[in-house]
Amino acid sequence: MEKDIKFPEGFFWGSATSSYQVEGGINDNDWAQAAKEGLVPDTGRACDHFNRYKEDFDIAKSLGQNAHRFSLEWARIEPEEGKFDESAIKHYRNVITELKSHNIEPFVTLWHFTLPHWFDKKGGFTNSNAPEIFSRYCAYAVKKLGKDVKFWITINEPIIYAKNGYVKGNWPPFRHNLVAAIGVINHLVESHNLVYQEMKRINREFQIGIAKNNMDFDSAKFSVLGRAIQSVGNFFWNHYLLRRISKHQDFIGLNFYFHKYFGYKFYEQKSDLGWPVYPPAIYHVLKELKKYRKPIYVTENGIADSADKKRGRYIKEYLEWVHRAMEDGIDVRGYFYWSLLDNFEWAHGFGPRFGLVEINYQTLGRRIRPSAYFYRDVCLENGITSGIIEKHKSVLADR
Ligand code: BGC
Repeated sequence: MEKDIKFPEGFFWGSATSSYQVEGGINDNDWAQAAKEGLVPDTGRACDHFNRYKEDFDIAKSLGQNAHRFSLEWARIEPEEGKFDESAIKHYRNVITELKSHNIEPFVTLWHFTLPHWFDKKGGFTNSNAPEIFSRYCAYAVKKLGKDVKFWITINEPIIYAKNGYVKGNWPPFRHNLVAAIGVINHLVESHNLVYQEMKRINREFQIGIAKNNMDFDSAKFSVLGRAIQSVGNFFWNHYLLRRISKHQDFIGLNFYFHKYFGYKFYEQKSDLGWPVYPPAIYHVLKELKKYRKPIYVTENGIADSADKKRGRYIKEYLEWVHRAMEDGIDVRGYFYWSLLDNFEWAHGFGPRFGLVEINYQTLGRRIRPSAYFYRDVCLENGITSGIIEKHKSVLADR
C-alpha cells in the first residue's frame, strides 16, 4: 500500500487553456493569417469557449478546481496599433468575474504565442520597439482587469516560441534563422522585465512570473559526450532566460512535458504525440529551480491521450514526484493540468487530445473524461490517498 500524500493548505489545483487554442472566432492574428494562406491548420470556432466559458467553468468547478489559467488574446484587445477595444476587455472582465463567482483563482497569461496581425507585419518580437509595444498593451489590459487578478504570467514559453517560429520554422513567421531567434529571445526578456516594472508600479501586490518550458536533460552516466550536451542544453534551454529575468519575477511558472535523454532509453509509455512519459523528470527539473528561491507553480503538465487510458496514471505519478520535490524543500504552490478542454494543438491542429474534457468538434458537446474524476478527487482531498486510488483503480490501471 502506497502512503497517502497531502499537499499544503491553500495549494492551487487547476487546469490551463490559452485563447487561440480554445476561444474560436479569432481572425486577426498571425496564426489566423497563416491559416488563410494554408500554412497551418485553421482554428475556426475551436471549442467556442469564447461563448461557452460559463459552461466550461461550471465543469471546472464540478471537478474540484480552485484555480484556472487562461490567456488574453492581444489581437482582440488591440486590434489596430494603439487602438484598444473596450468590448474585448468587457468580455475578459466577465470571464474573470465568472471564475471569481466560483471561487476559482484566475491566473492570467498576457501573451500565449499569437500576435496581432499589425504587430506581426512590423516584425513581431524582432522589432527593436517590441518591448514598448508589448508593454503598452500589457499596461492597458492590466489597468482594466487588475482589480480582480493577483497572479499574472507575462509570456508563455519564450524559448519554445523562438525555436518553433524562428529556428524550426513550423510556426509563424516560419523562419529558419538562429540570429533572429536570439534577437527575439532578447526582446522577450526585455519585454518581460519592462512589463514587470510597469505592473509593479500599477500594483505592488501583483504576483508576476513567466511560464517557462523546462526539460529534464539526462544521459547515461558513462557517456562523456552525452553529459557535455546535457549540461549545455540544460544551461541554454532551462536557465539562461530565467537568470536574465531573475530580478523581475515573483514566482516561476513551470510548464513541464519533456525528458530529453541523450542516448537510448526505453519508455514504458508514450503519449499520442510520441512524447515519453517519465514522471521522475519533473522532480529533477523542480529541484534545479531551487536556486532561484521563488515560489513555483506548475503552470502546465499534461498528456495527449485520446483514449484516456494513460491520463489518470500520468497525473498521479507526476503529482507524486512534485510532492517528493516539495518534501525536499521545493516551494511548489499549485498545479495546472494542461488542459481543461481538448483544443487546437498548434501545427498539429485538433488531432491531439489533452483535455480533462473531451470536445466533440462537430456538436461542440463536452464530455468529462474518467481520468478527470480521479483528478477531481485529488483536488478536493488536497492529496492522493489510498481511498482515491482504490476508487479509481480502473482508471489508474495499465490499459
Ligand atoms: C503550450 C501549449 C501547448 C502545450 C502542449 C505548451 O507548450 O503552452 O500551448 O498546447 O504545451 O503542447
